[in-house]
Amino acid sequence: MDVFLETERVVLRRFTEADADDLVALNSDPEVMRYLTGGPPTPRDVIEREILPAYLHYYERGDRYGYWAAIEKATGDFLGWFHFRPGEGAGPGEVELGYRLRRAAWGKGYGTEVSRALIRKGFAKLDVQRVVASTYEYNVGSRRVMEKAGMTLVRTYRLTPEELREMFGIEDPEIFDGDEVEYALEKVDWERQQAEEALHQG
Ligand SMILES: CC(C)(COP(=O)(O)OP(=O)(O)OC[C@H]1O[C@@H](n2cnc3c(N)ncnc32)[C@H](O)[C@@H]1OP(=O)(O)O)[C@@H](O)C(=O)NCCC(=O)NCCS
Repeated sequence: MDVFLETERVVLRRFTEADADDLVALNSDPEVMRYLTGGPPTPRDVIEREILPAYLHYYERGDRYGYWAAIEKATGDFLGWFHFRPGEGAGPGEVELGYRLRRAAWGKGYGTEVSRALIRKGFAKLDVQRVVASTYEYNVGSRRVMEKAGMTLVRTYRLTPEELREMFGIEDPEIFDGDEVEYALEKVDWERQQAEEALHQG
């Protein structure tokens, strides 16, 4: 198993071709897809021909960034995925964090635990200077994960109908009436947070 990161309860490993069924199941739960497509699933052939190959292609560019399958240590179960990689048009040293977990895994602190560990690895080991993440304004769970990972809101913006189609396959932009929210954390602020936490623990 090609492990990228390990936390107390979760292992992040590289995806393989054998993960297609788990990805199809993840993207077939309307609750998981609620703030992404409005509910509709991602077709299997899109996962097999576009999404999974794109994840696998990422590893060829080096081991530093990409999409990682999250596995529960205690059971070996597939929990979902996290990505940690430069977003489109990212500045130097800027990495985007993202996540999607199976409904059965929600509310157990996994989103926060792994996000915090990825941010730590980025700043402490990978020369990252800034971590960004964005979500739909009504996606409270996702926003809470960002906040609990130490990130703060930097801007809100509206996706165009073209962007909604390109990013999520949404044909009817009317289903979303809200903005995107972008959060960020600078390395200097993360270092300050670490020092404060150490002080409280000591
Ligand atoms: C967003 C997501 C990753 C959250 O993961 P998670 O492991 O359940 O989150 P955590 O258990 O670490 O919870 C973090 C905080 O968010 C809160 N939270 C989580 N889901 C919530 C929800 N649906 N509504 C309100 N609060 C929620 C938790 O209570 C916790 O806050 P607290 O400690 O103050 O109580 C998960 O819900 C998910 O995969 N959703 C579907 C895909 C998605 O929307 N991804 C993000 C797209 S940008």
